[in-house]
Amino acid sequence: MANKIQIFDTTLRDGEQVPGCQLKTEEKIIVARELEALGVDVIEAGFPISSPGDFLSVVEISKAVKLPVVCGLTRAKKDDIDVAAEALRHAQRGRIHTGIGSSDVHIKHKFKSTREQVLQQGVWAVQYAKSKGYEVEFFAEDAGRADLVFLAQLIEAVIAAGADVVNIPDTTGYCLPQLYGKRIKYLTENVKNIEKAVISVHCHNDLGLATANTIAGLMNGARQAEVTINGIGERAGNTSLEEVAMILQVHKDLELTTNIKPEKIYGISKLVSGMMRMPVQANKAIVGANAFAHSSGIHQDGFLKHAENYEIINPAQVGVPSSSIVLTARSGRAALKHRMELLGHKFEGEELNTLYENFLLVADEKKEVKDEDLMVLAANMPVLVK
Ligand code: KIV
Ligand code: ZN
Repeated sequence: MANKIQIFDTTLRDGEQVPGCQLKTEEKIIVARELEALGVDVIEAGFPISSPGDFLSVVEISKAVKLPVVCGLTRAKKDDIDVAAEALRHAQRGRIHTGIGSSDVHIKHKFKSTREQVLQQGVWAVQYAKSKGYEVEFFAEDAGRADLVFLAQLIEAVIAAGADVVNIPDTTGYCLPQLYGKRIKYLTENVKNIEKAVISVHCHNDLGLATANTIAGLMNGARQAEVTINGIGERAGNTSLEEVAMILQVHKDLELTTNIKPEKIYGISKLVSGMMRMPVQANKAIVGANAFAHSSGIHQDGFLKHAENYEIINPAQVGVPSSSIVLTARSGRAALKHRMELLGHKFEGEELNTLYENFLLVADEKKEVKDEDLMVLAANMPVLVK
């Protein structure tokens, strides 16, 4: 039987930390409602102690959504946890996400502390957050670079203290997929009480491996993935929701499913990009402008014969209005003929050859040949043929 993966969306927390992406509370409520419609299981709504605006956003999102768990981030500090507990009071289901650095580099150079003290602080934070009556998720920051034996001790201790979910972040995007997958497997095999908690994966994209690492984590026993729309987030970003959801959809052999409604993906991608003034790169998987655009002659010909020759996802499945054939100097006769037919002009044989030669002259001048250029070419054809 397929295993259900919980989708934890942190667009409004890790994503919103990106300079220039800050949203007003009203805007965050709109995004949160769309995330609920998309089918995410958990919405990380903010870091309540960080500012009065973030506090208010967590309060209002807690009121606005009914189905997803609403989560607030804290450090392993009393004031942070008190403020988060207060912000979540209207949530149908609230979660406090607390934690502390777990790698030696963080322990030494960020906290000027020791492994023992960090473990005690983590246990204390989980117990204190738990006393507030919410679900508790513990994050072992920089777990991707932490000593694995110490990480396992820390995770065992926080689960014993009551953590419902244990987050193993690759905070710096350091891990290779195989390495990250092995870390998760090690925890499943060496943390005695691991079955009492859900393992969560939270990967950053510094080496372009966030999605690959997330999938490796899920294949090795993690059951929650922390993601953002369009992969926005600190530095090179977080794992993108649309990539994880569609990988699990396309690779049914993994037997991992989510509650995500794929047809809502494109709409929310556009909403987040527009509201956060954060353009999506054209070649971004699933939601980029070129994700379903075919531009070389060989691909266009194959695509026109049978879309599955060059598409593993039907664009309609993710809410993209249609595939597109982009006409450039690399396009072939088949694509030109097809586009001309859609514009109401039929060219065959020698006439098509002449049209194609003229098309290439225009294409060499312009990067992309648009419909208006084609109409001019078609209008000139009788003259050119003679
Ligand atoms: O990347 C990270 O480690 C985080 C934690 C706060 C969960 O965002
Ligand atoms: Zn993060």
